[in-house]
Amino acid sequence: MRYRKHYVALLLFSALVGLTQCKKNADKTPSEIPPDPKTVAEGKEIFRHDTFGDEDFWSGLLHIDKAIAGSANGGYGSGVSPKTALAVGLKVDAEALPKEVVAAIQSGTIDLDDPKTTLALLKLNAVVGVKGTFNDDGSMKTIGITCAACHSTVDDSFAPGIGKRLDGWPNRDLNVGAIVSLTNNAKPIADMLHVNEPTLRTVLSSWGPGKFAAVLFMDGKAVTPEGKMAANMIPAAFGLKDVALTTYTGWGDISYWNAFVANLEMHGKGTFVDPRLNDAQKYPIAVENGFGNTHNTPDLITSKLLPLKIYQHSLNAPKPPAGSFDADAAIRGKVLFEGKAKCASCHATELYKNPATILHTADEIGIDDFEAKRSPTGKYRTPPLSGLFARSKNGLYHDGRFANIDAVVEHYNGALKLNLSATEKKEITEYLKSL
Ligand code: HEC
Ligand code: HEC
Repeated sequence: MRYRKHYVALLLFSALVGLTQCKKNADKTPSEIPPDPKTVAEGKEIFRHDTFGDEDFWSGLLHIDKAIAGSANGGYGSGVSPKTALAVGLKVDAEALPKEVVAAIQSGTIDLDDPKTTLALLKLNAVVGVKGTFNDDGSMKTIGITCAACHSTVDDSFAPGIGKRLDGWPNRDLNVGAIVSLTNNAKPIADMLHVNEPTLRTVLSSWGPGKFAAVLFMDGKAVTPEGKMAANMIPAAFGLKDVALTTYTGWGDISYWNAFVANLEMHGKGTFVDPRLNDAQKYPIAVENGFGNTHNTPDLITSKLLPLKIYQHSLNAPKPPAGSFDADAAIRGKVLFEGKAKCASCHATELYKNPATILHTADEIGIDDFEAKRSPTGKYRTPPLSGLFARSKNGLYHDGRFANIDAVVEHYNGALKLNLSATEKKEITEYLKSL
């Protein structure tokens, strides 16, 4: 009976908690209600480890598994050693390493020049964003990639490139072009883009670290009218909760884009329908390949979009390390940002929330319209600026055209005729570094 009483008390208590929770949540807008931790955990798992069945592309078509293994381990070529993997920007999750492996790396008894070691790391699921499956005899069966390959890095706490995962931080070291170039079967991709293999390889090798050209596989445009290679910086996947449109040019909301990437860039298996891609003038490659009407059975993507979004929205922008900016100058910079420099006329939370106020023409920000015009919106999307320090490496703006924050401020000063003094520019820079 005592048990019973406790049970009733517990029920009553949970009901009460439930009620107050309801009441609390009733006062909140949907975006303020804290997400269900179970769904967040589910989304995190998807973000980190789900390949959506893209192995058919990365292994089946491109044979990247065989390139990693190398001829000594049943593949082709010299293989990818851990040193090479780190050199092309892949990251190792130190928390996935057993103690013995950590000790062996520290004592130098593990050979970081041997592709076999890479296979061992993949077996431990320790290479961020790269997922291997293995045969019973230990040989690699398939390789796939996950969102984390591009949108996570590590804190380097163990060694450069090896540390704790930082989800949502763009991997600005990752050389996607170099990784795709490992293929010994470039022809299908070259054919798809109507170029020859050497041209495709030239394009892939021109992107460099931190860049990828998503729209190339829709419109076939590898270079800008000025003859520069067209590729965009991998953006952050954090700090997007209040952002109405995603991507540099506002292709759609977060789930739209997550589905786009999972289906059309990672080549996972799902459903993707967007009539805007059926425009043969604008997106010839997409039309030829039916990308705007993608249907796979089974669909390994659609049911994951909600938890994936909830996880991404739970990723707040990180705060810059103490001492990485001049706090007094930043306070003065904020005043300028909101006043004389007019930055807040575009960069403000309320404006990010609205699809109509988040987009701007190329003229409004004083740059060319090449990338904007390749998007269905024809415009550039205003990026939220928090956590800027974690996504400035290798360049700012969509294509990384500005080397650092100072260069961005200098650009606005000229393009928008702001008449800022050297001190004022510095103060705005310090403010941006503080976000
Ligand atoms: C090969 C690298 C790569 C992979 C893998 C990748 N992305 Fe991206 N992601 C990019 C690039 C590059 C962009 C910028 C696209 C553009 O605007 O041209 C981007 C843009 C985004 C954005 C928009 C960010 C913003 O500021 O609006 C989100 C959200 C995103 N990706 C989520 C994902 C998710 C979720 C996955 C897995 C399903 C994924 N990405 C896989 C490279 C990648
Ligand atoms: C007319 C609207 C508008 C104004 C005014 C404006 N911005 Fe921007 N800002 C944008 C857009 C749109 C982009 C995206 C450009 C791109 O990706 O090519 C951007 C990009 C940036 C970036 C790069 C972010 C990144 O992730 O690469 C920084 C930094 C920035 N703005 C700071 C400022 C500052 C400082 C000011 C004031 C001096 C300012 N902006 C004024 C619209 C604006």
